[in-house]
Amino acid sequence: MFSDNKALFTHQLLQWNETQNHRPLPWKGIKNPYFIWLSEIILQQTRVEQGLPYYLKFTEKYPTISDLANAPEDEIMKMWEGLGYYSRARNLHAAAKYVADELNGNFPETYEEIKKLKGVGDYTAAAIASFAYNLPYAVVDGNVYRVLSRFFGIETPIDSTEGKKQFTILAQELIDKKKPAIYNQAIMDFGARHCTPAKPLCLFCNMQANCVAFQTGNTDKLPIKSKKKKKKTRYFNYIILENSENEIAVNKRLGKDIWLNLYEFILLETEKEITLKEIRAKAKEILQINTEQLEIVASYKQLLTHQKIISKFAYIKINELVNNKNFNFIKKEAIKQLAFPKSLKQFIDNSDIF
Ligand code: ADE
Repeated sequence: MFSDNKALFTHQLLQWNETQNHRPLPWKGIKNPYFIWLSEIILQQTRVEQGLPYYLKFTEKYPTISDLANAPEDEIMKMWEGLGYYSRARNLHAAAKYVADELNGNFPETYEEIKKLKGVGDYTAAAIASFAYNLPYAVVDGNVYRVLSRFFGIETPIDSTEGKKQFTILAQELIDKKKPAIYNQAIMDFGARHCTPAKPLCLFCNMQANCVAFQTGNTDKLPIKSKKKKKKTRYFNYIILENSENEIAVNKRLGKDIWLNLYEFILLETEKEITLKEIRAKAKEILQINTEQLEIVASYKQLLTHQKIISKFAYIKINELVNNKNFNFIKKEAIKQLAFPKSLKQFIDNSDIF
């Protein structure tokens, strides 16, 4: 019945999808390219459970791409707050403006035109092209590498040029040209929920008999990666400085680092973890104030893709106004309207300072 194990893979994946994949999600099966694009940008580097409420609130607040294009950047950043990888939100806004202004609000309809949108790479373009227009472009990402390397027993490192090429060619051969949307959604869901990195559900898998990794006991060794990057650890010591007018010093982050255009408190970044005494001394030097009353009120850890951030929050209330051009004093009540990185938002939400 099947000429090769590639045809068998496609058949069995679609069979899994029909019989075992029961996860209704609001963007599944829809044809509105703007909503599909929005869901795919939100789901880049974000799990479905985390992204879902953001998708719902974005589609409600901005029902058309022109609504999104016309929204102020700060409002979009605030809506995005907590999702991470904020360049996605900036690119989203830029792409919405491009579609609204340059394309008369008409979402692009070919793979190449879709890929011209800021923030849209091969994976997202393939997802949108297949879901919205049923075009046969296969998605390739970490989930797909894992599924294919296991089923076909491919040992080429997935982070090598050769590996990327090999998996991309294979994925394109496997996609069901008559049902690209269903196929792409099926492989995404199969990788995310069934053929998972740890503890895959092999015992309940209809592909078991033909899966090379399962048959050879290599499921936990595939896919193969050649390099392991060590996460860099950074130490962020924040000073929450409140003046006599109940205002707090904040800054908008600029420059080529993480969290561009988000707000933060006065930041002292150090190479190592430092003590309260050291924080007081540094703050005194920089701010030219008496820091004896400065106290650490919280600490948080945040894991990003390539770095680990260890933050300490130290608070001080002073009985004067400070003049410093490097930051702005904002009324305490207004702080919650600004967009902060995730660990700062957590701190603000849990602290009785605000
Ligand atoms: N991850 C990226 N796109 C997705 C989608 N359409 N459904 C589920 N997970 C995804």
